Amino acid sequence: MASFLQIADDEKGYDLDLFCVPRHYENDLDKVIIPHGLIMDRTERLARDIIQDMGGHHIVALCVLKGGYKFFADLLDYIKALNQNSDKSVPLTVDFIRVKSYCNDKSTNSVKVIGGDELSSLSGKNVLIVEDIVETGRTMQTLLSLLSECKPKMVKVVSLLVKRTPRSSGYRPDYIGFEVPDSFLVGYALDYNEYFRDLSHICILNDQAKEKYKV
Ligand code: IMP
Ligand code: MG
Repeated sequence: MASFLQIADDEKGYDLDLFCVPRHYENDLDKVIIPHGLIMDRTERLARDIIQDMGGHHIVALCVLKGGYKFFADLLDYIKALNQNSDKSVPLTVDFIRVKSYCNDKSTNSVKVIGGDELSSLSGKNVLIVEDIVETGRTMQTLLSLLSECKPKMVKVVSLLVKRTPRSSGYRPDYIGFEVPDSFLVGYALDYNEYFRDLSHICILNDQAKEKYKV
């Protein structure tokens, strides 16, 4: 089973005043739960684990937009660094898919694929799906079944975060950065109705902000 860094349910996190948080979000957040530096350090190790397992063959990294874009960019930078500093290297190409399953702070039952490249181009390839967070697991299960119709050679999934929640379908990604408590998280490209992607640290949203940015 994939190892991960566990953030406990009673994790106190860090006071916002200890880090740089955009002024426009100062009153919307409870605390910083994963500082940007820790995200980067864990991502560096995930890159190494992935290359150790999948290396040797061409990898197509598939970014699940929009939430996955920061993690995708940073993970690929670390994979690139490994590629250019060791004797062995693997060609890496990229692809993007956009899915939407959330409204306010609730996962909806429908998972919509709304754009991205033709998945058929992934036929016969080693695909690494890069996702921000797995909650119920429905988004990833839907994506995996769509992808399997295109007959890729291998599919692995890396998710920066997995939420500990009774709503989980039991699905677990192949690589996991952090396991997090059942709260709504924002920052590092994770959003609440499109806000908070422009925040570097992963933070817990407060109830007041859920009202403020509700649609
Ligand atoms: P799932 O289908 O329930 O596993 O939800 C996965 C998707 O919901 C993720 O790709 C996110 O886009 C979104 N999501 C789930 N939990 C959170 C959260 O705490 N903050 C922001 N987005 C979330
Ligand atoms: Mg996502």
